[in-house]
Amino acid sequence: MTSQAEALLSPEGTELLALVAAAREAGEPPLKTAARLRRDHPAALVAAATAQDELRQAGRTKFSRAERMLFTRPGLEQASSETTARHRAARLAAAIPGRLADLGCGIGGDLIALAAGREALAVDRDRDHLLMAARNTAVYDAAAGLSTEQADVRDVALAGLAAVFVDPARRLARSTPRDPARRPGRGAPPGQRLRPGDSEPPLDWCFALTGQVPAVVIKAAPGLPAGTAPDGWETEFVADGRDLKEAVLWSPAVATATSRATILPAGDTLTPEPGDPVPIREPGAFLYDPSPAVTRAGLVEDLARRLGAWKIDDQIAFLSTGTAEHTPFARTLQVLDSAPWNEKDFARRLRARGIGAADLRRRGLAGDVDQIRRRLKLSGPHRATVVLTRVADKPWGLICTDPVTAS
Ligand SMILES: C[S@@+](CC[C@H](N)C(=O)[O-])C[C@H]1O[C@@H](n2cnc3c(N)ncnc32)[C@H](O)[C@@H]1O
Repeated sequence: MTSQAEALLSPEGTELLALVAAAREAGEPPLKTAARLRRDHPAALVAAATAQDELRQAGRTKFSRAERMLFTRPGLEQASSETTARHRAARLAAAIPGRLADLGCGIGGDLIALAAGREALAVDRDRDHLLMAARNTAVYDAAAGLSTEQADVRDVALAGLAAVFVDPARRLARSTPRDPARRPGRGAPPGQRLRPGDSEPPLDWCFALTGQVPAVVIKAAPGLPAGTAPDGWETEFVADGRDLKEAVLWSPAVATATSRATILPAGDTLTPEPGDPVPIREPGAFLYDPSPAVTRAGLVEDLARRLGAWKIDDQIAFLSTGTAEHTPFARTLQVLDSAPWNEKDFARRLRARGIGAADLRRRGLAGDVDQIRRRLKLSGPHRATVVLTRVADKPWGLICTDPVTAS
């Protein structure tokens, strides 16, 4: 039986994909398009092309060339975005040239960056994913040195490789008509997420690859518990803007720090900066809300040292300074008002400033933000960020504004 990717890559599949896209662009209702195309083409192939066209539309959030790529839904959902894949691949290429393998390449979100300008072996046991990864790598003109192998990653010969990249699946395998035996056991539906911390292949298997290959890079969930990686490995937390995207584990051959926070797209990077303990004081004129990549990497104090900032509480990851410090590692707020939290008092302070719209951020304090907002009875033409937090363990409020728009 022909797999879905093979069917879509066939001349008729290719023609149908173009017809479906043209009909969508012309504004024809999808049901009408499908009915029309079924007159001359097999219904299953028309359905596959229609579903693929939808996936291509969805894929545009991750891939600039999505309209020419092929996806399965779980493959697209699990795929790295172009931005994160490029960042990782560039770092690996700079550190370790030579042939690499992408073990469990999926639809090739990472492969398109990893294979660019070097020899690469793509491995996946899912035939559709492997075919799609090869196709998608070619769409990015990165397939010149690419070879593929449909196999379980445990069965692949790794001798001679300079590096391996693994992005383990965090959900159960898809079941395809071609491979019904792969339907997972215990009645779990294919595609279902694995328990937090579980992956296929498991992380311990990935760590042990250093016994066979000089450099190993593993993509993991951003919620990865601290201390998961063995000694000598680097754990990098990567955010794209304010969104924490992933953890990347670098084996000792490529590690250059114990932990790292990286902010894309610029690629600014923060590593431990040892020094004196950071003091705790009441907030000054500027408040910094560190990127989740910084907090997950355990680098809040290191960021404080870099900024010359202090903490406002032992347990809370806000930093403060007296003068504005520009940093890509935190959202900076200018403090207009700062006092122990008292709802009635803050309602008065906000009214006095004419603040009618507020972004309420609660950290370290209990309370329903929507109910607090209602009780504050905001009114006026201005906007502000109101931070409800703790300062030296006391409930505290801050009325803040964005320093760029501050007048
Ligand atoms: C998270 S996805 C990879 C996503 C990919 N990095 C991307 O950006 O598109 C994991 C892939 O590993 C494959 N996989 C999981 N376990 C495997 C195994 N034991 N052998 C081979 N492939 C495996 C799955 O079929 C899936 O395609």
